Amino acid sequence: MARRRQLYEGKAKILFEGPEPGTLVQYFKDDATAGNGAKKGIITGKGVLNNRISEHLMLRLHDIGIPTHFIRRLNMREQLIREVEIIPLEVVIRNVAAGSIAKRLGIPEGTRLPRSILEYYYKNDALNDPMVSEEHITAFGWAATQDLDDMTALALRTNDFLMGIFAGIGIQLVDFKLEFGRLWEGEEMRIVLADEISPDNCRLWDAKTSERLDKDRFRRDLGRVEEAYQEVARRLGILPEA
Ligand code: C5P
Repeated sequence: MARRRQLYEGKAKILFEGPEPGTLVQYFKDDATAGNGAKKGIITGKGVLNNRISEHLMLRLHDIGIPTHFIRRLNMREQLIREVEIIPLEVVIRNVAAGSIAKRLGIPEGTRLPRSILEYYYKNDALNDPMVSEEHITAFGWAATQDLDDMTALALRTNDFLMGIFAGIGIQLVDFKLEFGRLWEGEEMRIVLADEISPDNCRLWDAKTSERLDKDRFRRDLGRVEEAYQEVARRLGILPEA
């Protein structure tokens, strides 16, 4: 296949120019980082697994009417996506206390939250992705009020649906991070789900044992990281090709 022009390289993925206008190729690397790049490593096979897991979840979300940037998987490490204007926000949805909320508010990890809680972070590596409020987002113009309403509604529907999918395979969806983009079709714009949904950006705990099946195994040096990602893929019924 002809070499494609690289447009952007992130910590875990590379974006290449796509075969048609308005498309991009998203390549999944095995590189892992934590603490905004403070800790770096390689999780062998992670890119292949995340490509498959994200494909599976994006397709299932599409089936229930949640718009996404995903078009189709191209091969083991690449997927074709629609080119969107990424909104510089990370939307975190939490069902159970873990990670930064546990630390910041002194809530023991594993405590069920009174309801699902949404948080917004401003995507800016130099500032360590600070948490921001709706006031900041609309005042600084990172997203309009309507965009934010759409993102919030899509995030909550995605959470309800994914909680059900994971509960069905014995996994508790503790929290996860979503990114959104603006998709332009002529003069029309709609907000769609972008980036990826994988154990890199979800906390997934075994429902019975609370064993971590996600990137916290890497962040906290718990070992057996690739095996955890494989277990998630296996339970979803989508192990990669040999
Ligand atoms: O670290 P924290 O508890 O705020 O993370 C909440 C959720 O968002 C976790 O599932 C984590 O994997 C995800 N996250 C992410 N990318 C970031 C920050 C958090 O995917 N930059």
